[in-house]
Amino acid sequence: MTDTEAQDAALATRVSAFYESHPYPPAVDDLDGYGRKWDDARRRAEAHLVWPAEPYRDDRSILVAGCGTTQAAKLALRWPRAQVTGIDVSAASVAFAEGLKRKHGLANLQLRRLSVERAPELGQAFEHVVCTGVLHHLPDPDAGLRALHDVLEPGGALQLMVYAPYGRAGIYLIQDYCRRLGIQPTAAEVLDLIVALRALPPDHPLTPLLRKSPDLLTREGLADALLNPLDRAYSVPQLLDYLARGGLRLGRWLRQAPYLAQCGGPAATPHGPRLAKLSADEQYAALELFRGTMVRHTVVACRSDAPPAAAIDFSGDAWRDYVPVRLPDTLVVREKLPAGAAAVLINRTHTYTDIYLPIYARQARLLAAIDGTRTIAQIAQIAQATGERSAARDFFQALWRYDQVVFDTSGSAPRP
Ligand SMILES: C[S@@+](CC[C@H](N)C(=O)[O-])C[C@H]1O[C@@H](n2cnc3c(N)ncnc32)[C@H](O)[C@@H]1O
Repeated sequence: MTDTEAQDAALATRVSAFYESHPYPPAVDDLDGYGRKWDDARRRAEAHLVWPAEPYRDDRSILVAGCGTTQAAKLALRWPRAQVTGIDVSAASVAFAEGLKRKHGLANLQLRRLSVERAPELGQAFEHVVCTGVLHHLPDPDAGLRALHDVLEPGGALQLMVYAPYGRAGIYLIQDYCRRLGIQPTAAEVLDLIVALRALPPDHPLTPLLRKSPDLLTREGLADALLNPLDRAYSVPQLLDYLARGGLRLGRWLRQAPYLAQCGGPAATPHGPRLAKLSADEQYAALELFRGTMVRHTVVACRSDAPPAAAIDFSGDAWRDYVPVRLPDTLVVREKLPAGAAAVLINRTHTYTDIYLPIYARQARLLAAIDGTRTIAQIAQIAQATGERSAARDFFQALWRYDQVVFDTSGSAPRP
């Protein structure tokens, strides 16, 4: 074993020991409330977000890599007809997940204590691999990603969340502070840390994070964020390089509006047109810098050796046959509207308050005609907007960019 391998092995042991004594996320009694949230409409929207070009299916094989205490059970509840496998290095987390499996009778869930790096030992390929909040804790994140690539079916989708650096600057300051003081993740030390953090200067970079994410002020959340033996963060260009090294490419951002030059405040600045002329990857990188406070990136990625699925494309005619599906967590606001607007559309999962879409009377008619089965062309006909082809196209493109809809494009053949 080389020195680096020995150091990596020692670090991996510290990370798994940490999650043995601090299973994450904190225990929940049951998932009944969570299960009730997932109806067919929500499942359909989620499926087309990941697989726009495929007819809806709810019976996929899913691997939850680094599943922690609850994530695999949640996915098994959410997709009762899917086969879900959860793996994690923490025996405590797997045991907790087994308890949820029993409690909710989740016959479609298999759990195993196994590291992400050894996922190929499952001897199975998966259509959907979900890995959130895990790879950035690995001594060799490239090895983890390669392993996930190897268990992803050629047409499969990897949903990956890793930390982002700029919004976490305050966390890295206090991680370093704790390291220098030799603070350990014991119950007493965590309580002392909570008290100490109350004395942080109001303009310390960690203060807004403490205010905005209640999880950080729980004992488990605080230990996970500030006393973790190992974590790293990826800027947009680093993440895109990371995916490429792992044989993967970006499909989409789970929530894309914050990364797009056409959405929210940046579009209305004098730089809007210049931002919009950048390549897609440069746009994402610039928007991360402009927004400055992103704490994580969540992407849907696919294997680079798989034939690219037809991209959502508004340049030709194919969009007329797209079926828009409303995303959950979207809201139509009808109060305090900008002049002339019929409503303002927001997505509650967005954290930036500049990301909202004002719509006008004709657009409100188009929106109202979305039912998850009609194509854009049919919607335009119902809303009597057939004469305004480009207006309908621009509106549905804006709905998509602002994370108001996803599309089922499986019925749209490219036109010659
Ligand atoms: C922050 S938790 C995230 C849990 C879960 N993915 C979620 O989003 O709720 C990180 C998890 O990764 C697990 N983990 C860390 N290193 C791992 C590895 N090499 N292989 C598998 N799991 C690992 C930890 O045990 C822990 O359960």
